[in-house]
Amino acid sequence: MSESTRKTGTGLLGWTCVPHALVLYLSILCVLFNSCDTVDRSKFRTCEQSGFCKRQRAVKEGYSKYKVDLSSGQVSSSSDKVTFSVVNPDGGHKFVLDVIAYDGVFRVKMNEESPLLPRYEVEHALLPDLKTTPMQVSKGSDSWTLTIGKDDAIAQVFGDPLRIDFFSQRKKVAVFNGRSTLKFEHLRQKPDVNDEPKEGEDSENQVQEPSMWEESFGGNTDSKPRGPESIAADIDFPLTQSLYGLPEHADTLMLKDTTNSDPVRLYNLDVFEYELDNVMALYGAIPYVIAHSPESTVGVLWLNAAETWIDVGVSKGGLVDSIVNLVGGSEENKEGRTRWMSESGIIDTFFFMGPTPADVIRQYGKLTGTTPLPQMWSIGSHQCRWNYNDEDDLLTVDANFDKYDIPYDSIWLDIEYTDGKKYFTWDHHKFPHPVEMIQNISSKGRKLVTILDPHIKRESGYFLHEDATNQDLYVKDKNGKIYEGWCWPGSSSYLDFFDPKVRQYWASLFALDKFPSTLDTYIWNDMNEPSVFNGPEVTMPKDMMHYGNWEHRDVHNLYGLMHIMSTYEGLIQRSENRLRPFILTRSHYVGAQRYAAVWTGDNKADWGHLRASIPMCLSLSISGMSHCGADIGGFFHNPDAELVLRWYQTAAFQPFMRNHAHIETKRREPWLFGDQITALIRSAVQKRYALLPYWYTLFYENEKTGMPPMRPLWLQYPNDINTFPIQDQHMIGDGLLVHPVTDQGATNVQVYLPKGNWYDFYSHKKYEGGTHTLNVGEDSIPVFQRGGSIIPTKQRIRRSAFLMRRDPYTLYVALDENGEASGSLYSDDNESFEYREGHYVLNSIKFKNGRLSSKVVNPNSPFRTPEWVERIVIVGLNKKPSSIEARSKSVGQTSLEFEGDYPIVIRKPGVLITEDWEIEIA
Ligand code: NOJ
Repeated sequence: MSESTRKTGTGLLGWTCVPHALVLYLSILCVLFNSCDTVDRSKFRTCEQSGFCKRQRAVKEGYSKYKVDLSSGQVSSSSDKVTFSVVNPDGGHKFVLDVIAYDGVFRVKMNEESPLLPRYEVEHALLPDLKTTPMQVSKGSDSWTLTIGKDDAIAQVFGDPLRIDFFSQRKKVAVFNGRSTLKFEHLRQKPDVNDEPKEGEDSENQVQEPSMWEESFGGNTDSKPRGPESIAADIDFPLTQSLYGLPEHADTLMLKDTTNSDPVRLYNLDVFEYELDNVMALYGAIPYVIAHSPESTVGVLWLNAAETWIDVGVSKGGLVDSIVNLVGGSEENKEGRTRWMSESGIIDTFFFMGPTPADVIRQYGKLTGTTPLPQMWSIGSHQCRWNYNDEDDLLTVDANFDKYDIPYDSIWLDIEYTDGKKYFTWDHHKFPHPVEMIQNISSKGRKLVTILDPHIKRESGYFLHEDATNQDLYVKDKNGKIYEGWCWPGSSSYLDFFDPKVRQYWASLFALDKFPSTLDTYIWNDMNEPSVFNGPEVTMPKDMMHYGNWEHRDVHNLYGLMHIMSTYEGLIQRSENRLRPFILTRSHYVGAQRYAAVWTGDNKADWGHLRASIPMCLSLSISGMSHCGADIGGFFHNPDAELVLRWYQTAAFQPFMRNHAHIETKRREPWLFGDQITALIRSAVQKRYALLPYWYTLFYENEKTGMPPMRPLWLQYPNDINTFPIQDQHMIGDGLLVHPVTDQGATNVQVYLPKGNWYDFYSHKKYEGGTHTLNVGEDSIPVFQRGGSIIPTKQRIRRSAFLMRRDPYTLYVALDENGEASGSLYSDDNESFEYREGHYVLNSIKFKNGRLSSKVVNPNSPFRTPEWVERIVIVGLNKKPSSIEARSKSVGQTSLEFEGDYPIVIRKPGVLITEDWEIEIA
């Protein structure tokens, strides 16, 4: 990478208390003289530099003596909740502990009995109106046993000291406070420096560290008016050290031991040129871990939106040892440990009891929601750049996709389309006819996506700033003054999306008479951590105030979620609830999957970042954010042709596929790397488009079950311990396994195939389970179909997904050892919510005893479509057929042409996807 490609980025200006003009000046110097480098760690806190993390991390095992008064236990009238009183004998402070049950899930909540001020409880992340479930309660002298179902899931609450053991199918799978490190800093009056400790006061209250009531970092002072209020607890997993989750980090899929590093940090931040393989905070925070073992799988959600650090203990020797133990079947160091530390709020923890990974995923989805089925175009290929300069530029790029015959579905406009970074406006010189421009794009079935950030330019006369000022819509500082920070427009204020009035106002701006656009315009919400160039750690100071009188400290990680919720509402209102919204978000929290797709932010044009896109999206996928992708080519710097090509080949098999680049990089539309590369990129994108019916079916199932389309292998093969650490290959659904080529100059890749039959999806070559070294050329994308699966595809590749919507299908049938296979095919109108009223068709397709049959699962659906099956490709038949016959209402009984020995290709069966059909192979 050349020096000249090192340019400024979004989070560069992490300096605090620097006058705005100086900040801007320095940033310009950085761009001009290429003096910006990789992440500046000094801009971001370590645990040691964060008062509460330091205090909490110093807690030793056995520290806490919290006692549950079992005799105080009260069972709610519907037996779905048990409430206990808890005391800290050290000082006598009282707490309330609730254990609540949902289907397969325990929730453990702990708060002060009478806090001096209310403590924040996370809102909006969970689905509203959750249905609880009754428990059987059995009271013992030293513990109470709470059971969901027929002893499927048990929580045993011990009184002295407070500890809760969780059993799934009689196996102990998790323990809350088993190491007695729970520490709940209760709210207190600020002591006078000269105060003597009062009698009977807890020892903790006698400690007075300077960081408790005021804390400075990087020149910024956090006033901390409420004093210390952090919480922490240990949660351990007796059965396993294979822990996953805690996105968003540019790190391994399997969590690493943090004994000798910082804990994993969850604090939504705009990190300039983030580094790989570390636990520094990034744009999103999902405090959720899945602990997986062949015996049982359990998930834990720590529902807290304040800054959170998590220590992970996965063996003395860390990841390597733990894998050695795992593979060697050793019982040593089996227990995985976590300790969660948050700056404020309450302890609110969910235990998803499994027992299988699919159960945990479903249980998590039932509480936090799943990704709604995206519009078909949004799982196609996207073209973005910071920035397309003007209408001509944009329309030329659009036309070039046709000229070079590369399918794509949307083109994106970054911040420069606006009039001076004023969102909901257009630069009338560069984009004088936005509506006509969008109509031009959408005439080919394509969409426009425009960026809308949450910071608002403080410019008098700008309607949004005027409205926000007059209607009191901005975040305030601790003195009640509107907070001012620095972002793209210069001096900016930030909408307080926690206020329902603000959400409603923002939503109203999407009306087509307010924002000149069309219903084919969709939205990209960026910088919503929120990013504040001159704020502490490039974000908003923690003592700013939000609606409801909550400090930013309490709600920080939720800010992006509130932003996308409002945008979602705007898109819903704009189409009068007809069209499914599409939003791409950078910041995210638990539940964000209900509103938006996500990308991994400002990555780099290097091979490590290409490789990192897989574990990052896998980690997000298992944590709910299933519509995930990374900027193709890498956002910063200029990729060479090989990297761009390999990135396209990798991204074509990830859920969200978008080419995007920094404003200072060279243009990188797919035809700019020479004819040969253009042809290879075209082929990769065409492969994506052929598989759209499969992706779409998987996204439909994702909405129903929570199962993400992009899956780590262990999710599909929970008993195969070889799969546990794998992060250079992944599954798409349960039918395809992909091992993209992600190494520069690679001539081969090593692929691990779990037990069973596998078929190269493109050459149809058969493989047995095991490790295979495959030679790869520049056109290789190793993709394998599982024997036993049926994959729906469309092979008439057109310019956009929209244009392919009524094309016929080719089914790929790969038989297992028993000569059987099964799969699904889902179709609807590709864009509206009508599928939720039953306007869709779902086929269940099976191959058994030489017969391929398809059943419409919802035969009474009013949905009509001419889509039909034009080809069937079968691998794994043990003899060449002598005749093949189709039967259905539309084709009657008819004999079919077929060709080839291997695979067998059946031509034009002609059956419709809206009818039941059978194909008999004799
Ligand atoms: C930061 C985003 O991560 C990047 O994708 C975008 O291009 C810039 N902001 C400019 O809007």
